[in-house]
Amino acid sequence: MFRTIEWLDDTSQVRLVNQTKLPLTLEHIVTNSHERIAKSIKIMEIRGAPAIGAAAGMGMALAAIESKARTMGDLLEYLENAANTLNTRPTAVNLTWATTRMLEVAKSVTGSIDDVIQRLIDEAKEIAEEDVRMCRSMGENALEFIKPGYTIQTICNAGSLATVHLGTVGAVVRIAHEKYNGDIKVYSAETRPRQQGARLTVFEFIEDDIDTTLITDGMIGTVFREGRVDCCVVGADRILRTGHIINKIGTYTMAITANYHNIPFYSVAPTSTIDMETNPKDVIIEERDPDEVRIINGEYVTVPDAKVYNPAFDMTPPELIDAIITDRGVVRNPTEEKMRKLFPK
Ligand code: MRU
Repeated sequence: MFRTIEWLDDTSQVRLVNQTKLPLTLEHIVTNSHERIAKSIKIMEIRGAPAIGAAAGMGMALAAIESKARTMGDLLEYLENAANTLNTRPTAVNLTWATTRMLEVAKSVTGSIDDVIQRLIDEAKEIAEEDVRMCRSMGENALEFIKPGYTIQTICNAGSLATVHLGTVGAVVRIAHEKYNGDIKVYSAETRPRQQGARLTVFEFIEDDIDTTLITDGMIGTVFREGRVDCCVVGADRILRTGHIINKIGTYTMAITANYHNIPFYSVAPTSTIDMETNPKDVIIEERDPDEVRIINGEYVTVPDAKVYNPAFDMTPPELIDAIITDRGVVRNPTEEKMRKLFPK
């Protein structure tokens, strides 16, 4: 798979895959504007927790270049405004993790404005490279749970497109596929309303010759009862110190159904997705435009002003999770004590 997002050194621009056009068209957006990056995050041209973190990091570097600031004070003010502009989705913690990290770097550098700008460009590129390394480590750490011949149920897209490269669930599947000579299968839930499973996960696994079957979200119970899958592997937009995971809407229902059928349920995520501060009741679950549910392919499929509830994410409690798999290691049967041991800060 190609990289989802890249920093172009020659022109100091950012290039990202426009995911709203996939799988039919592979189109890139190339920009030097942090506001354009913010728009891409908001309208989900780029999406997936680690990918929007990387985009926000690069957006901050673009903002530093754009600012034309002459004093450190002016630069920091511009960057703080840019961070607010870029933080357009409230649930995935990677977004604020990246903008905060970039602001801290800006505050810590001593030297000229040009030195600070260069340091921010380097940091944005490092966030992206780190993401690729973390994905590989997660994939390797997950191998102990995935046996040759396994069929893995997933939801949404936690593949290469949701990260800079490789994916979280994507790394688990790809590394197992490579290690077991292709003897791995995937069931991908369609993931209404934005269909990241149908549009993105199926697309990228088929590109990589991985045996993938698409189901609608309502088929999960039947697929589990018929013994078609061996385990569930999902990503996360935020993992709390309590072991709760927040992920794409439908994850909680999948976890309950997996639990009922004694199917192991794993969540895979990088350190940048861990939030040791927020309490479960304080997590903001993004509610998106009702028309995402009312309209399919540009046409209303319901009464145009039908009342709609459209939360983009849900929260799965630790008792339904067999293991949280991170780049740092694995937390089996997660508890706050075990989470604190792996993530002391
Ligand atoms: O609304 P999205 O498409 O940004 O939601 C993405 C997910 O829920 C993914 O499962 C999550 O970000 C993990 S990605 C590695």
